[in-house]
Order: sequence, then C-alpha cells, then structure tokens
Amino acid sequence: MKMQKITLVLLALLCCTGLFAQNNLISNTGARKSLSLNGKWQYIVDPYETGFYDYRYKELKEDNPDAYWNTDVQVNKTEKKEHGYIEKYSLEVPGDWNHQQPEFTFYEGTIWYKKSFDMEKAAAGSKYHLYFGAVNYRADVYLNGKKLGMHKGGFTPFNFEVPVSLLREKGNFLVVKVDNKRHADEVPTLNTDWWNYGGITREVKLIETPGTFIQDFVVQLKKNSTGKAPDKTPEVEGWVKLNQAPAAGETVTVEIPELKFKTSVPASGQTTALKFKLPKVQLWSPESPKLYTVIVSTQSDRTQDKIGFRTIEAHGIQVLLNGKPLFLRGISIHGEIPQEIRRAYSEQDAVQLLHQSFELGCNMVRLAHYPHDEKITRLADSLGMLVWSEIPVYWTIDFTSEEVLGKAKAQLEEMIVRDHNRASIIIWSVGNETPISPVRTDFMHSLLTRARELDNTRMVSAALEVNYNALNDKNIVDDPLGEFVDLVAFNEYLGWYGGLPDKCRTTNWDTPYHKPLFISETGGDAKGGFHADSLTRFSEEYQEWYFKEQVAMLKRMPAKFVGISPWVLADFRSPRRNNPLYQEGWNRKGFYDDKGNKKKAFYVMKGYYDEMKKKTLKK
Ligand code: GCU
Repeated sequence: MKMQKITLVLLALLCCTGLFAQNNLISNTGARKSLSLNGKWQYIVDPYETGFYDYRYKELKEDNPDAYWNTDVQVNKTEKKEHGYIEKYSLEVPGDWNHQQPEFTFYEGTIWYKKSFDMEKAAAGSKYHLYFGAVNYRADVYLNGKKLGMHKGGFTPFNFEVPVSLLREKGNFLVVKVDNKRHADEVPTLNTDWWNYGGITREVKLIETPGTFIQDFVVQLKKNSTGKAPDKTPEVEGWVKLNQAPAAGETVTVEIPELKFKTSVPASGQTTALKFKLPKVQLWSPESPKLYTVIVSTQSDRTQDKIGFRTIEAHGIQVLLNGKPLFLRGISIHGEIPQEIRRAYSEQDAVQLLHQSFELGCNMVRLAHYPHDEKITRLADSLGMLVWSEIPVYWTIDFTSEEVLGKAKAQLEEMIVRDHNRASIIIWSVGNETPISPVRTDFMHSLLTRARELDNTRMVSAALEVNYNALNDKNIVDDPLGEFVDLVAFNEYLGWYGGLPDKCRTTNWDTPYHKPLFISETGGDAKGGFHADSLTRFSEEYQEWYFKEQVAMLKRMPAKFVGISPWVLADFRSPRRNNPLYQEGWNRKGFYDDKGNKKKAFYVMKGYYDEMKKKTLKK
C-alpha cells in the first residue's frame, strides 16, 4: 500500500512537472544557424533489439562495445564485432522506412540509424542542440557513444543539448535507435486507421545558439482585440522565453520594421511578458494572408519569424475571424503522399496537399490525426489556409493512466510550442472519437485545460461522439466533453456506416450547447475508376450520391452550423482496409484517388463550396 502511494505521488509529480514534456523545446528553428544532418544514414534493422539488450535482456551498459550506439570500427582483427554500419544499408532522412525498402513495408520494430558528420570547431560560448522534426515513435539518441536522451511521440519535434566537450571537428558518430512498435499505453494506442510509418520522418539538424538564447516566444493578437467596436485596436499579448535566467540589465526587444514598430522592455526573468498595440497592422485572413517580419532580440541573441496577425474566437454560435463570422469550407488530410505511399515531409508535399485543397474550394484543412510537418503549417500561413491541428489521442487510449495523460500532454505542448505563432492555426484539437466515460471525459477535459493554459488565443476542440438515439429524426451531439470545448465538432457517416445516403433526407442534427457546430468528418469509400450504379458500394457513383445527399442535408443544418471537413482529401494507406477488390490496404474515402485523380464526388463538394463562398462574399 505504502509503495503504491509513493508510485502514485511520483507519477503525479512526473505529470505536473511535465517531465514527459521536454520544456527545453526550441521553436522557430528555421531562423537558427544550423548544420543539416538530412540525407543518407546507415542502418541496422534490429527486431530483437540485440543492440540494446544483452542475451539476458538486460540493457547494455553505455560503454559496452556490443551496443549499437558504440563505434563499429574494428580496432584489431581479433576483435569480435557483430554489428556495423555500411553504405550498402542506407535510408534517406527525412523519410519513413516503409516506402524505402520493400521488406520494411509492414515492419514495426527497431531500426538503428547512424550518421557520421564533421563540423567547424565548436565556438566558445555557444550552445549546440540536436533537433529532430519528428521520429516515429520512440527515439533513443546517442552521440559519440554518449546517450543524449529519449523521446516518445511520432509527430512532434524535440531537441537535446549537446555538451561542447562531446563534439569533434571530425567523425562525429550520431546514432538513433528508432522503435515504432505500438503499445496499449502509448499515444496513439494499438489501433488506428492509418499506416504506422516508422523512422526519422522529418528533418534533423545541429543548431548553434548563444549561451543565453531566445528559446521560444509568442507574438500574437489578444483574443477579440479586433472587430467593429471603435476601441478595438489590435493588441499583441505575448512573451519571450530564454533558455535560462538573463544576465542583469538584459532587455527584450520586438521590432516589426514594415510597421516602423519597435519596443524594448527589461527582461523580467527567464520569461518576459509582452503587451503592445498595433494600430496600423493589416490583419491576416485567407483572402489576404499578410505576414510581417517580426524580429525578437536581446543583448546576446536575435531571431526573426514571419507572423500574421488575426484574432479567432467562438462567439455564441458563431466563429469570428477578426471579428467577422466565418464559414469553414474544410477538408481532412492525412500527412501522406499516396502516389509514393509515404509520409509527407517536404515543401513540395505541402504544396501538393494544399493545392489539392484549394482546388476543392477549401479555406480550411483539418490536419488529421496528428501534428503534420511544420512546412505545411508555414505554407498555410503564406497561402491563406486555416488549420485545425490535432494530437493523436485517437479511439481507445488508456484514459485511466496518469502516465498516458502525461504522454498526451507532452505531445500537446510540443505541437503548440512549435506552431503557436502560425496565424493559419485556429483550432487545437485534443483528440478524435474517444468513447464516452467519466474517466475519458476527465482525461480529455484535462487536455483542453492544458491547451488553454498554453495558448488562450485559439479555439480548442475534439471530434466528439454523437448520440444517435436521442430523438427520432434528430441526432444530438450531447457528448459531456462538449461543455469544455469552444467548437462542438463531430464525425458522421450517414449513408456509409449507417444506412444508405438517402437517410440524410430525414435526419437532422443539433447540440444542446450554445456553441458553434462543426462536422469534422463525413465520407464513403470509392475505388477510383470503378463505375457502377449509385447503389453499388465502392463505386464513384455511390460516393457521388453520398455527397449529394450530404450537401442537401447540410443546407438544412441549424444556424449554429459553421462548417465541415469531409473525410478525406485523398485515399490513404490503412492496415484496417482489406477488401481485396476495392481497398487492398487503402482507405478509399478520398476525393482524390491514390494516383491523384479526382473522383466524381469531388465536383459535388466543390459545387457546394463555390456556392457557400459566393454566399459569404455577398454578406
Ligand atoms: C473515423 C476516423 C478516421 C477513419 C474514418 C473512416 O471516423 O476518425 O480516422 O479513417 O472514420 O472510417 O474512414
């Protein structure tokens, strides 16, 4: 009993100190001096984790020559070396391993990655940080035989400080043990409707900073500081966080040259609050995605970012962007390039996904079900696409576990720290289709509360559960979690997972919450190019019919209906979809097929969006 109590206290401590969340995450790394470590890495595939455990399955000691983080150079011919990294076994970084080698298509386990690199002599007084855009799922990171740290979470960034003494000008030996095995007590858990791509899926770089540097900052407009009321002058409320306490007399300066704006305040500790008005600022919106160069500096450091200024809020049953009602013409997207059956990571990938969304007539994308690459949120900023960003608290997470809550909070914090200066992001979502229970609602409520603590300038939400038995012809979104979100969002598949599409004609939707209502998913499978009568499932005609009925129903939604993000932009890989004729490991609910061809349903949705766009413009 006593032991149990101690464990519980320790776990609680771990959670509240955010020990899971690495509170040294550096944001805006693109503006930092860095050495890219992208490119070819050598690898060892290690399903038995022989490089980590001894034959008694005990973790190998750091200096054990058999450990795969230790150099593979054979010192003398008598030495028995049973591991090594050679060019023949190479993988591209960034990139998932599944699409790079046929034998890795279904591989879930450990692969060791090794990168040797030279660098300029480490500058005295500088700090060095190994930064990873994302590694799916668990990453154990070693440099020159020393462990730098471990990170869990497949879709968010992390960095480890590298002691200068560990760095060499020649022959640095960087090893990452990547393990994408699924576990019940992880986030996501065992079961997902997407492919568990493994590997170092986003960029890797060695960042150089001054000893005391700007680790993170927020320069965003205070909620509801724009809009009609005469005294509404756009007002920034933000802060600048240093990596450590500043030297005496340190000041924090924010400049926006294009607005001839500059302000300096004395540093008030590791984090210094910012508050100032920007009367002349041109507000960011999808129609005019205006970005400003914002320079943040101290006596010892300087960084800059491209930032758009806008306000977003749920106001009664409306969503207001810069004080004006907004209708969300959305689409749900997976971080995948179907043509190459791989995870998306490049600028070009982001251009493809947003271009396809614009073609559909969208002004919003739901990046499902995990934080996507930073390139797509930055591109959304510059192209004017609104973004819903989500952490993979998906389906049956272990809601009873404090430890799992800690893991979810860590991913939430990493998602928000990376992107809290992105004007495009208007919604932080803490999860999708989580089954209702008191322990689940507490878990999710705790995440929503944490999201608000981390960022009170955006809406928070989640894809909620629907009560299909509430009333005869009315489905009610009365999920108890609805009380704590800003936007009441729900998924519905009327005509695919329930009945035929014409069921829409007699169905209505509502929620008891006096809040904006949003459909975060709806859709049906169609194999691209398969044509038949509209009653034939998996045909393009069935999907087309599905959306015709949906669109007609959307026109009868209550006044609080503010938009939709159908499921899904393009067909995507899923291990749960095994109809041998029409699916073959693909979820076929895309408006685009896996080759990038538009399906008939595309034109139904585009037609509806063009209509809604005209309506909005008239107002
Ligand atoms: C679910 C889920 C998606 C899934 C989709 C489907 O609602 O949120 O991840 O792919 O429905 O069934 O196709």
